[in-house]
Amino acid sequence: MEKAAQFVSEKMSEVAEKVGLTSHTSFGTGPTLTRLTGCPVSHNKNSLTAGIHGPVLIQDNYLLEKLQQFDREKIPARNVHALGYGAYGRFRVTNDISKYSSAAIFSQVGKETDLFVRMSGIFTEQGEADTIRDPRGFAIKFYTEQGNWDLLGINTPVFNVRDAKMGPDAVHAFKRDPRTGFRNPSQIWDFVANHPESIHQTLMIFSDRDGTPISFRKMHGYGCHTFSFVNSNKQRFWVKFHLVSQQGVGGFTQTEAKLVAGEDPNFLGKDLHDAIEAKNFPRWKLCCQIMTEEEGYRDPWTFDPTKIWKHTDYPLIEIGEIELNRNPVDHFTEVEQVAFSPANVVPGIGFSPDKLLQGRLLIYDDTQYHRLGSNFKQLYINRPHGIEPATYSSTGGHGQQDVRDKFPHYWPSFFGGLRPDPRYLEPSFRTDGPADFYDYPNEGTDEDYYLQPREFLQIMDAQERRNLYENISYSLWLCPEKIIRANLDHFYKIDHLFGSQVEKIITDKKNGVILKTEAEKLVDNLNVTREGIHS
Ligand code: HEM
Repeated sequence: MEKAAQFVSEKMSEVAEKVGLTSHTSFGTGPTLTRLTGCPVSHNKNSLTAGIHGPVLIQDNYLLEKLQQFDREKIPARNVHALGYGAYGRFRVTNDISKYSSAAIFSQVGKETDLFVRMSGIFTEQGEADTIRDPRGFAIKFYTEQGNWDLLGINTPVFNVRDAKMGPDAVHAFKRDPRTGFRNPSQIWDFVANHPESIHQTLMIFSDRDGTPISFRKMHGYGCHTFSFVNSNKQRFWVKFHLVSQQGVGGFTQTEAKLVAGEDPNFLGKDLHDAIEAKNFPRWKLCCQIMTEEEGYRDPWTFDPTKIWKHTDYPLIEIGEIELNRNPVDHFTEVEQVAFSPANVVPGIGFSPDKLLQGRLLIYDDTQYHRLGSNFKQLYINRPHGIEPATYSSTGGHGQQDVRDKFPHYWPSFFGGLRPDPRYLEPSFRTDGPADFYDYPNEGTDEDYYLQPREFLQIMDAQERRNLYENISYSLWLCPEKIIRANLDHFYKIDHLFGSQVEKIITDKKNGVILKTEAEKLVDNLNVTREGIHS
């Protein structure tokens, strides 16, 4: 034994010396390195060769495994929300809402539930700066005793389209121009002018508060859609979810956001991470607005995610508090592999006829089967806590991990097996008339397109409005005249001053009346230099 220990020690020093390491600390002091099979690895620098000049031997199976693993370590990025950060936390019930929902997570004041949150940019890609103008994602996975409930929030209370059929168009318009791979503001403003229902969210995206938030911690979240609650008497209510930041809210101006992007592209991610490391745990109140089932069918905007429900008509009801208190330690397995879906609800929380929500019930699992593989729901971060899923589905597919006696693997059977439980049936869902491609009630009216954008402008203070006009103009002025005109027509209908102010800034910008930014001056100078070189 002593001889073996001496051999190991000599070999370690020999290898360390060859690798150019001078101390055992750099060589590694932790547990023995192994292959994925658990077999100890003896050498981690040089390939096994026949003689000093090779060739390399295939029997260096650790080398092969290392290269094959490396070749497969990237997976498709999320089609949207690709750049994001995560944190663990707890949800604690602070108010009894059992008269609205029978969900076990809400059953008792003081009850706590584990959760994982992912904060993201929607169109910001991996590697881009956190602070570029973009709405933000705020997705929460509650690991409840009845399974996972995912609440996918964003930092604007409304979305830009209201039918999933328009979803891919909306996303394409905000992404890169497929011809050049560049971002192209003409696409965005072309889309907005052709979808006046999107102006409401567009104003929010071009505001400092929502478009360039100063911190994920200083951002509210909204479920946007109308969901439903069902109570133990099988009574249904319509519900909208709100996450109210206890840190307050705040946004960068356009210039500040650009400066921060250059200084520290991961600014928002680090801010969240560092606050949690410093035990300065961020908190949000989880609140809801409630409508009775009948009221919902009367109001034309109940199921329209481009509209808010006024707080004066439907005041916020507190449900509980969320605290983020632990950082992930493995970005890929926790933050990249987490998979949220609005389809993941629990008994007592359900859906609504909202046509965008209905389409999203397909989108998420579908894209995650592609992004993460057929058994992504069994991955560490996506598994429920404290319960073992018992299903007829988990009998195969890539990466199957569910090891249990699965017979009978069909239903029903005299051999026993898993059984559905009718106690969890929801009350029946009302449907409405013959099948057709229906517009929204009021679609195309002034009230539909312009009323809520007008009200949004009215709640801003003078400085916020000025910044909004500038932020819009600095993007819109780069577009062809017909696109500028089409948008201005809408802006004038929302508010004459809004239209005229944006038109004036665009005209001044075109005529060079407005001074160039430092970056624009720099780029101009570079062009002169370049032309100088080539001429
Ligand atoms: C038709 C419109 C929409 C489309 C096509 C769409 C599509 C997608 C896709 C493909 C993903 C990536 C999912 C993944 O790979 O895991 C995603 C993520 C996300 N979506 Fe949507 N979405 C739409 C509307 C919405 C709305 C209305 C909301 C908010 C209420 C929302 C909130 C989110 C959030 C928060 C994430 C990020 C989840 C994460 O951090 O992993 N989306 N969406």
